[in-house]
Amino acid sequence: MGHIITFAQQKGGAGKTTVLAHLAVEWIRAGKSVALIDLDAQQSLSRWVALRGDSSLTRIESKSYRASSDMKQARKNHDLVLVDCPGADTSLLDNVLRETDIVITPCQPSPVDVWASQTVIDSAARFRTPCRILLNRVPPRSSSLEDVLATLGEARTLLLESRLGNRVAFAQAFLDGRTAGELSGRSAAARETRALQAEIEGLLAA
Ligand SMILES: Nc1ncnc2c1ncn2[C@@H]1O[C@H](COP(=O)(O)OP(=O)(O)OP(=O)(O)O)[C@@H](O)[C@H]1O
Ligand SMILES: [Mg+2]
Repeated sequence: MGHIITFAQQKGGAGKTTVLAHLAVEWIRAGKSVALIDLDAQQSLSRWVALRGDSSLTRIESKSYRASSDMKQARKNHDLVLVDCPGADTSLLDNVLRETDIVITPCQPSPVDVWASQTVIDSAARFRTPCRILLNRVPPRSSSLEDVLATLGEARTLLLESRLGNRVAFAQAFLDGRTAGELSGRSAAARETRALQAEIEGLLAA
């Protein structure tokens, strides 16, 4: 049975699709079988997959009403099932998090994003699903970062050690269905992605 990792955040544009796709490619390169489930009506993950034209990534066609059964089915024959889940629909979020092994909530270092993370944190707590917050698009210098992190309160314990910087390569690579690591394996974006991958693997193994 494979692991299910869900990327969810109520606030739009936090980085769910970007982070999920970057990790998917790293796991494929590491020899894992990876299935992707795109539950977002915008279908941006599916568009990235189509641009990529890569048969090693399995995209599973799903719909909200059958998301949890599709997830259960997918984990039977894949090492990893990565789910792109919009966070605004709480009943969908609950259904998905019930079946999830770990949920990653990307969060930009701003109070608005931090406040919005609470929906996912609460849903995860209802089902005792481990939840971690990923700081994304972190600027090189931010004098207010500590103040923003303080607004997390108790949820500060959920912060992943890995962070992703605000780096053009993450967006640029998406233009033709690739990842920053594929553009340059030695870039900061690539290093950060691999560190995140290793940290999540450690959590799944714990
Ligand atoms: N670390 C990063 N550095 C620079 N740009 C980033 C980074 N992460 C994401 N982006 C950019 O931010 C925007 C939003 O990212 P993305 O679409 O992945 O977020 P999302 O949470 O999936 O959004 P939505 O809620 O619309 O589905 C995109 O333009 C993406 O290229
Ligand atoms: Mg998205």
